[in-house]
Formats: sequence, C-alpha cells, structure tokens
Amino acid sequence: MKTIQIKGGTGDTVVLVGESMDSLYRYVSIENTIIITDTRVAEIYGKRFPPCKVITIGLGESVKSLKTVENIYQQLLAFGADRSTCLVGIGGGIVCDVTGFVASTFMRGLRFGYIATTLLSQVDASVGGKNGVNFQGYKNIVGVFNQPEFVICDLSLLTTLPDREISCGFAEIVKHGAIADAEMFAYLEANAARAFSLDLSVIEKLVYESVRIKAAVVNRDELEQGERRKLNFGHTFGHAIEKTAGISHGEAVSVGMVIASAVSEANGPIKSVDTQRLQRLLQDLSLPTQIEVDVDLVWDALQKDKKREGDSIYFVLLEQIGSAVVRRLSIEDVRVGMKYLGSPTDKNPSQAHVLMGAKRSLQSKTPTLFGVFGDPVSHSLSPIMHNRAFVYSDYSGVYFPFRVNAIAKAISAMKTLNMRGASVTLPHKVRVMAHLDRMDVLAEKIGAVNTILNQDGVLIGYNSDAMGAVSALTERLSLENRRVAIVGAGGAARAVGYGIIENKGNVIVVNRSAKSGEQLAADIGGEFSLLSEIQKIDCDVLINTTPVGMFPDVDATPVPETFFNEHMTVMDIIYTPLQTRLLKEATAAGCDTINGLPMFVYQGAFQFELWTGMQAPVEVMREAVSEALAFGEIKTA
Ligand SMILES: NC(=O)c1ccc[n+]([C@@H]2O[C@H](COP(=O)([O-])OP(=O)(O)OC[C@H]3O[C@@H](n4cnc5c(N)ncnc54)[C@H](O)[C@@H]3O)[C@@H](O)[C@H]2O)c1
Repeated sequence: MKTIQIKGGTGDTVVLVGESMDSLYRYVSIENTIIITDTRVAEIYGKRFPPCKVITIGLGESVKSLKTVENIYQQLLAFGADRSTCLVGIGGGIVCDVTGFVASTFMRGLRFGYIATTLLSQVDASVGGKNGVNFQGYKNIVGVFNQPEFVICDLSLLTTLPDREISCGFAEIVKHGAIADAEMFAYLEANAARAFSLDLSVIEKLVYESVRIKAAVVNRDELEQGERRKLNFGHTFGHAIEKTAGISHGEAVSVGMVIASAVSEANGPIKSVDTQRLQRLLQDLSLPTQIEVDVDLVWDALQKDKKREGDSIYFVLLEQIGSAVVRRLSIEDVRVGMKYLGSPTDKNPSQAHVLMGAKRSLQSKTPTLFGVFGDPVSHSLSPIMHNRAFVYSDYSGVYFPFRVNAIAKAISAMKTLNMRGASVTLPHKVRVMAHLDRMDVLAEKIGAVNTILNQDGVLIGYNSDAMGAVSALTERLSLENRRVAIVGAGGAARAVGYGIIENKGNVIVVNRSAKSGEQLAADIGGEFSLLSEIQKIDCDVLINTTPVGMFPDVDATPVPETFFNEHMTVMDIIYTPLQTRLLKEATAAGCDTINGLPMFVYQGAFQFELWTGMQAPVEVMREAVSEALAFGEIKTA
C-alpha cells in the first residue's frame, strides 16, 4: 500500500492506494459510522460492509440532486445521527460527491471518508475535496470545498467494473498525464493494453501517479484560484457534451480533451503532433474522440458553464504533452472547437449512444442488429436505453433508429439483414401486423405490435406495453381485485387494459367519446364511464393513457383535481414531462403517483430479455433514460 497526503484548509486527507475495503475499521469507529452507497455497489459488495447503518441511493447523474441530499438528511435524523457520526461513502464519483456534501452540511459538518470503487473516483472524484450536486441542469453548481479524512482505493474492486466505466477512469488519468507529467503519459502509451486489462502493477502505478499529480495541484491551490483550474482540461467542452449527448462524464471529457487540444493549437502553444498522440491514446483506451451531437445545444450548455465570467472563460490550453496553461479566452476564441463536433442530420439526441454501441459491437465479428421503426423516430429514447444495456451486459448488439414510412419493406429488410429484433412505434403499430409470420396471443388480443423477434427467420410480433404498465404498477401494489380506471381508449389504453385484466384487476374505461370507450370496455371485459362523469367513479388506481398534459401542453390535464383522494394510486404514461399536471395534482391530494419512466423502462427490459435471453439490467436502462430526460431536455415522447 502507498499513501499520499493532502493538506486542506478544512483538514488533511490521506489517500491509501492499495488498501483493502475490509480494513475500514482501521480508520473509523464502526459504531459511529453510517455508510452511504448506491444500489449497484450495495448489490455487489454489501455483504462485505461492516455492521453499520447503510443509506442507499439510486444510480446515475440525475440522483446527484438536492432531493437525494434531503432524503439522506431525513434518514440521518431517523438513524439518530449526531456530531460524533462519521459518514463513509462507498461507491463511485456520484456517491463520493453526495456523501461529501451531506457530511459538510448536516449539523454544520460531520467527519467523513470514502472507499472509492470506480477508477474515476479513485483517481479524481474522491481526491481534492470538491463536493456537490447538480441543480436545474447546472452540473456541480451547489457544493463546498471540504476534505475527507481518508480515501481507500482498493484496486481489487475495479475488477467488477464494466469496461465502459474503466475507460471513463482512464480519461482522467490521461488528463493528469497530459497536463502535468509527460513521463506518466508515455508510460500509459506503452502499457495501454495492460492497463485496460487491470494488470495490478500497471494499474497501481497509474492510480498512485494520478492521485499524486492531483494532490500536488490541490496542495498548491485548494480553492481553485489559479493552478487547480488546469485540472479542468477537457472539461469545458466535456461538461457541455455530457449534458447534451447524455453520455458519461469520462467519455465526454475524452472528446472534450481532443477539442481543447485543438483549441490550444488554434490559440498558440501546442504542436499538432501532440493532439494526435492524445487522440491515439484515448482510442487505445476505448474512449471516444469525436461525437455527433447537436452543436447548438452544446454551445448553449457551454455558455451556461459556471466557470464563465462575463464574456470570457478560463480555458486550459496544452503547451505540450505534460504541461498546460490557463488562459482567459473570449467565448468566441473557444468557438473554434465547435467545428470538431458533427451535427447529425436529424438532430437525433441518441446519436452518441448509437455510435458508442456501434463502435463496441463492430469490434466483434458478428454484431447483432436491432432497431426501432417509426416516423418520426429521432426523439426515441430506445437507442439510448438499449445500447447502454448492451454495453453494460457485454452483449454484442447495436440498436439504430430507422425512419421508416414503408413498413412492409422494413420488415422484409429485417430478414435480409438478419436483424434479431425491432421496436415498432407510431404510425406502424397496427399496420405492421399484416407483415409478420406469427403473433403472440396478447399482441393479437391488443391488436397492436411494438416489438418484433426474429427467431431463425420467423418474425413474431409482441406487445410489451402491457408488461411495462403492469410491472410499473405491481412494483407498488397488487392488481388483484383492484378497480383501475383507465383514461383513454386508444392503442395504449387497450394494451394497459389487457395487462390489468390478465393480472386479475377490474377495469373501468373512462373516455370522452362513448363509442370507442364502450367498444374497448366490451373487448377487454370491463366497465365504461364517460369522462364527464368521472366524479361518480370509485377506483383504487387511475391511469392516464391519453397525450393530454404532454409537452408542449403541460398545463393541460385530463382529470379534475377534485377527483383524487389519498387512497388512490395515480399513474401517467407520459414521460415528457415526468411530472405532468395530473401527477402534481394527485401528489398534492396525497395520492401515490407513478410517472411514465418505469413503464417505458420495463417494456424495454421485456424486449431486451426476449431478444438476448439475458436478464435485463433494469437499473442501467432506467439510469440511461433518466439521464437523457434530465440532461438532454428531450421535448417529445
Ligand atoms: N468531486 C470531484 O472532484 C469530481 C471529479 C470528477 C468527477 N466527479 C463526479 O463523479 C461522477 C462520476 O463518477 P463515476 O464515473 O465514478 O460514476 P458513478 O458513481 O455513477 O459510478 C459509475 C457506475 O459504476 C457502478 N459501480 C461503482 N463501483 C463499482 C464496482 N466496483 N463494480 C461495479 N460497478 C460499480 C456504480 O453503481 C455506477 O452505476 C460525476 O458526477 C462527476 O461530476 C467529481
């Protein structure tokens, strides 16, 4: 084990590289410790935690919020935490940032430390005392400088990280070499393959050197008045890309570094040969160096950068590999970097994920092809969700959005191209049925298909909306003998209605027009009520399946607020916005509410399992979609 000291204004930190997580008891008194972790780390390593109280947070950048902080405060109060309590964050950068912020603010400050479990958190996020959360789309805008007492970097924990997370950690290691240590950069160039396979001696040296570089900078300028700004190399564009393209921090920083290097060339110091070295090394570490993304959105996000002061920005320029300078550049000087971002033809926000998925899958000799057929299709979140799930599960698949108006031709292409599966969206969900070889019983009853499986050349149609809705509901309550009012009588109402009947619930179709409402009620074996008479209905659950309340008509709602009572569960299948007016009013009336995200994710999980035969990484899929919704500001469903 090697140690590095950081001297901070609020106290000193010791970073322990090579220490084991099982040695936590050496650094804290276990009786006074409360652990903060995330669901995945708890699942993998929870059994090795010492016998302390544990607070578990969710996954993904959207969890790094004041809401999460508030939830933790509540749990700390419930656990009876006091000034003698020590908080230990066990997880990646998100857990560390949140833990540090909570520890710095609860009761005006508790002791805290970390067991950093991702490569990125070991070499960067846990080191240096910056803690904080995102707020209203601004990354890390609310936070404090406060040093943890200790950081345990247990290198053996890295072996359970997905490849993509390992790559992300390397982005920060490359950054440290690029700005401060040409020798370390060259060592990584020579040992990229061994590093990526987590060869212990190589990774130990890289984590140690990386922390040493960051610690030295922090020791000289803890509060980021000058030299510490160098650590933001690649982050000005990186943060804007992360927010816009919905890709992970490390991947965005990787692209951001290449752009910053190009801006350095345009503004003087660097030689172009160094940009090429940087690019090659990032590629060797499976990191993206270019991205197709909506340039206008990136530019908007960049203008919101919290490090901007008036019309200028502190920008980190490379002088050469191993040395950087911070210059105040006008926002226009920085604009030159924008040309390194491609603009996709149909401004598809999921393009970045498609490209990442494709890049990884094409490394395999036989990537399996998937897609979504629809028109329009550029707004679809399915490519983001499925490509993230494929990468996470190490499944060699790639999923593309296909804008299709002739569905028959697309179906025939599925066989020709040997596509394993497809999603089908508007306007083809009914029309597609005529072109398939077989139908699943439920899809046949529903009369619509949104999922196709290609089983050895036989195309079978399914409807995953019913499973999605039922899973989202049964997460909260059993449907047996419940009275479920479904507002609407279109395709979604039909799918949700059959799903509920199959799960022994009783359905009341509530619709503005009697004709289609009565027809649906008769088909599925439910009751019918006119929407204008909804006040007379007695139900346990209400589900909105109409588009009323969807962006841009966010002030609309299909049901009067006087209808709700605190015993009801209310679900909206709309997910743009996530909090519709219907859900806000139901929450205010004391109802349990479910937004459109779980249904979308669960129907995607059903598709993933059908196509791959593997268990769907539901949390990863949920995280991918919520990140895209929170940061991509996607406006259509
Ligand atoms: N405070 C700072 O100075 C600083 C510096 C850099 C980055 N950050 C922040 O760090 C965050 C990103 O950190 P991250 O990349 O570690 O993300 P993360 O915390 O989301 O972790 C990535 C994923 O890996 C999982 N994971 C963690 N450890 C694992 C293990 N050992 N095995 C398997 N899975 C594991 C997590 O559950 C999570 O799903 C961003 O919010 C970024 O802003 C902060």
